[in-house]
Amino acid sequence: MTKKERVTVLARFNLLKGFEDIYPPEVFIWQWIETKAKEHFNLYNYEEIKLPIVESTDLFTRGIGEGTDIVEKEMYSFQDKSGRLLTLRPEGTASMVRCYVENNLFNRPSPQKFFYYGPMFRYERPQKGRQRQFYQIGAEALGIDNPAIEAEMLLMLSRLLKTLGLNSLNIEINSIGCDDCRPQYKKELRSFFEDKKSHLCVDCNRRYESNPLRILDCKVTNCIESRQGVPVLAQFLCPNCSRHYSALKGFLDEFQLRYVQNDNLVRGLDYYTRTTFEITTEALGAQKAVCAGGRYDRLVEQFGGPSTPAVGFAIGVERIVALLKDNYKEAQRESVFIAIIDEKAEKKAHKIAEDLRDKGIVVSVNFGKGSLKNQLRKADRLNSSHVIILGEEELSRDKLSWKNLRNHTQGEGKIDEFLTNIEVKA
Ligand code: HAM
Repeated sequence: MTKKERVTVLARFNLLKGFEDIYPPEVFIWQWIETKAKEHFNLYNYEEIKLPIVESTDLFTRGIGEGTDIVEKEMYSFQDKSGRLLTLRPEGTASMVRCYVENNLFNRPSPQKFFYYGPMFRYERPQKGRQRQFYQIGAEALGIDNPAIEAEMLLMLSRLLKTLGLNSLNIEINSIGCDDCRPQYKKELRSFFEDKKSHLCVDCNRRYESNPLRILDCKVTNCIESRQGVPVLAQFLCPNCSRHYSALKGFLDEFQLRYVQNDNLVRGLDYYTRTTFEITTEALGAQKAVCAGGRYDRLVEQFGGPSTPAVGFAIGVERIVALLKDNYKEAQRESVFIAIIDEKAEKKAHKIAEDLRDKGIVVSVNFGKGSLKNQLRKADRLNSSHVIILGEEELSRDKLSWKNLRNHTQGEGKIDEFLTNIEVKA
């Protein structure tokens, strides 16, 4: 194929806008985050759940809410061959609740704590920190009314983020009330914005009718200006919601988790009740939230299950990866590379590789010919911590040469002794 033909073919198959290939070495950061998240979720007794990527469109329309941006503008929906309307999941909570109800998981002892990991799809305008396919690690706890669960979730998140080396993130919290107190607040908001409608953006004019709370987190300058003096939701909370919110803050104070109260944190999905929270950073520009969640006490019932309080969150993995680029070294994988400088050493090299793999060590053997210099370059590219060099001369003495590429030491030794003594940090 000529260069020109190749360019034409590639142009036809270009990666779609808003989608990403993730390959080594960056994929090692992803693996590290996933491993650490799973370890942390296990510590708090969350169990993994695997949910489908495609669901009926109706699930999200009902779960997330018809008037939301996600449902109105961002869903990847299509008809399958039998004419059913399906959607690539834009988030995990609706599927989690469907699964909980459909499989009668509510019959198991309460609480039920789950976590999931996988790609989500939203037809958004791609920009830094915002993709059309993005990964979430989410967790949901069902069956617990006590605000201690929100506090425990924030503890778990903060422990995980610290382990990942992210120490300076902000926890923002709010309460958006319940079906008893929110209608009154919506009324107040509508009358507050009534004579400001001409100043609000097109979306907020729509929100004025469907859900005026969403005007509170609009980023358009005119809408921000129109919010001057807006009534604060906290003043309209009913006694139960108010108690819940105070109790949550009490737990957070006790656990010495620093937080800020953000009266405008209303979230873009309709299922939330009472607590909402986000973990934010100033380091990523406009896409500040690396994690977001809240309580959704009505959703299980709405999907046909028994009345069940629930709370959860999802972490945006791309945004965590973007923050971690500086800590990259930590996420790198350690491995051994076996360089072969004489064809006769090839079989022995594979035997040694198997012995190392028995010990759980990651090994690559050089395939094909190449100068030692070239092979060392390959080892470097694979981020190997050690290189073993095998040639006919070494084999005749039952020895090998090694280099430690991390601390730049090198030596020679008996093969058996080397295999017994080698330590490679996983
Ligand atoms: P969300 O706020 O829509 O909530 O998304 C959670 C996180 O996913 C965001 O804070 C962000 O880090 C990441 N995220 C969202 N959209 C994108 C995007 N287009 N590109 C990159 N990252 C993105 C939910 O999805 C809820 N289901 C969370 C939840 C679980 N609430 C209760 N349980």
